[in-house]
Amino acid sequence: MKRAKELLVQAVETLLAVRDDTAQLDAEVLMMFLQGYGRAQLYSRLDEPVDDETARRFLELVARRAQGEPIAYITSHREFMALDFYVDRRVLIPRPETELLLEYTAQKMRDKGWTGEEIALVDVGTGSGVIAVYLALRFPHARVYATDISPEALDVARMNARRFEVEDRINFLQGNLMDPLPEPIKILVSNPPYTILAQVEPNVARYEPNVALDGGPKGLAIYRELLGQARSRLSRPGMIALEIGSEQATDVSNLGRFFFPGCQIDVYKDYAGLDRVVILDIAEETTNLA
Ligand SMILES: C[S@@+](CC[C@H](N)C(=O)[O-])C[C@H]1O[C@@H](n2cnc3c(N)ncnc32)[C@H](O)[C@@H]1O
Repeated sequence: MKRAKELLVQAVETLLAVRDDTAQLDAEVLMMFLQGYGRAQLYSRLDEPVDDETARRFLELVARRAQGEPIAYITSHREFMALDFYVDRRVLIPRPETELLLEYTAQKMRDKGWTGEEIALVDVGTGSGVIAVYLALRFPHARVYATDISPEALDVARMNARRFEVEDRINFLQGNLMDPLPEPIKILVSNPPYTILAQVEPNVARYEPNVALDGGPKGLAIYRELLGQARSRLSRPGMIALEIGSEQATDVSNLGRFFFPGCQIDVYKDYAGLDRVVILDIAEETTNLA
């Protein structure tokens, strides 16, 4: 039987050989996942022998990682806004940038005095449900809708809503963008597919659902359709908060101005200093329920 320490060294060597730049961390996360350990336990038990069956399963997981499979799919977990979400290959793995979308949305809602109100809000393209679940937990008075074109993604989102006991608070609807919504919406939040598929990192395109990534030839197709739909489906005053690709602030702002003339537009940066969130603040007087 090998000791945990030896297995970790073997795993790190395997991962370094395929240029995994988080080799040490990945090996430790996989060991903790398999053994059900926290970090302190992992370090205090490094000298203990690991039975052959567990060692075999560990090296199997390491081999999957070495093939390029994201850790979150191997472990079926992803932390988001300090909550532990279930994920699998039916959904995009939530990214840290999306936490900023929620922080800026919540800040704007506070500024508007909308946090305690019975407003209708929607998470369009809910995927694993992280946005809708977070908003339902944070704003207990809101009526929360979540839409996705992918029935498989909605199954995962429902599973996460159950996990955080907000399944009765979120109305999950399958369909194109805002089409399935039964009522006007005050706050639209979305992290839509916005990449140009040909430019996506190969392992992302290989493992994550293409429907979650593909924003059309210029990455803007979904924004255009979504903002067009929002014109007649958003109540006024209202707000639209969108995650964007780092090069898309000008194009998305222009689309916003086109569909909502006179709206106020704010662009926010992520921790890397890249444009990441656009918020359209739509006043009463721009009412245009066409
Ligand atoms: C970038 S992922 C975002 C997932 C999740 N909201 C997050 O932030 O991690 C985009 C999601 O939009 C969904 N989607 C793509 N096209 C759509 C459409 N036309 N209508 C509704 N949802 C769509 C995809 O299935 C995917 O779940």
